Amino acid sequence: MADTEQEALKQLLKNFFGGAFKDLAQYVTDPPDVQPLVDYFVNDGFMQPKLTEWKGYKMYGQGFNTDTIKWVYENWTPWKDDVIVASFLKTGTTWAKNIVRQLYFRHDEKLMAMTRNMAMPTINLETGLPVKFELLEKLPWKKRVLVTHVPTPLLNLEKIKSAGAKIICTLRNPKDQMVSWYHMTLNFPVNPNATKHFDMYPKDWNQFFDLCFAGKQLQCNKEGEWYMEHLLSWYPHRNDSNVLFVFYEDLIQDQEKEIKKIADFLGVAVSDQDVSNIAKETSFGSLKSNSNTTEKLVNFYRKGKVGD
Ligand code: A3P
Repeated sequence: MADTEQEALKQLLKNFFGGAFKDLAQYVTDPPDVQPLVDYFVNDGFMQPKLTEWKGYKMYGQGFNTDTIKWVYENWTPWKDDVIVASFLKTGTTWAKNIVRQLYFRHDEKLMAMTRNMAMPTINLETGLPVKFELLEKLPWKKRVLVTHVPTPLLNLEKIKSAGAKIICTLRNPKDQMVSWYHMTLNFPVNPNATKHFDMYPKDWNQFFDLCFAGKQLQCNKEGEWYMEHLLSWYPHRNDSNVLFVFYEDLIQDQEKEIKKIADFLGVAVSDQDVSNIAKETSFGSLKSNSNTTEKLVNFYRKGKVGD
């Protein structure tokens, strides 16, 4: 890759991650210094993807960091009304997150604006550096919508439950999950010199499938494990009082019914009209047409179908 292309990629990443954190910092009177966070995402996340490991679980690049989820496990205090969307990637995380966001903030223009672009860098428990949580604590919200892609051994479920926080697990047919993930990796803004990246996420579907199925992609999993082991870690918690399982396929089949279910679970009162409005605001077409630059770059709202 020519030096100028490397520089252009670095600049794109700096603009994106810098923008994401600086956007949020403007809502806080005494924000922490977010520059180390931006640098972490640009350098360890994408330019030279870093491999981290805790309890045998590995995370590779994109800003995922086992040191941070370890810090969260040991030090982070959830708030009573926190909602954590806990998912394997590409199973409907962003859809569920947007439904909760609508349920929590739709009557508050400022919070809707503040949370509009909040995604993987800012609200995932396992990405970036612990200083991120100082920023999240200082933002002017009393209820938070957070995300994680880690399996249960990396989360302090007792602490989350005793704080009164809630967890929404999204699940999706693994075939669709894998197809969705494949297409996303094709569009990643990665440094072509990061050779391991291309070993893990080849541009050929058959190779991709084999690596994914063999657990060779280090995506908050142990080597040799993938979505199935992630699901098995959550399955015993399906009846926990603070956990709700939401299936992508159910959302597709009857979004309003699922929105109502989520509202009941969170204790948010909604009328039929509210549910219908939220379904419109969080439909595939609406989310796609409102997608930000990065979502467009990776063609995030790709097809939104079952059985692709
Ligand atoms: P496809 O790539 O199959 O289109 P995640 O948020 O966990 O990364 O999941 C992304 C997947 O959910 C993508 O799947 C995306 O299109 C789909 N998705 C997001 N919002 C959706 C919606 N409102 N309706 C249907 N699918 C949606």
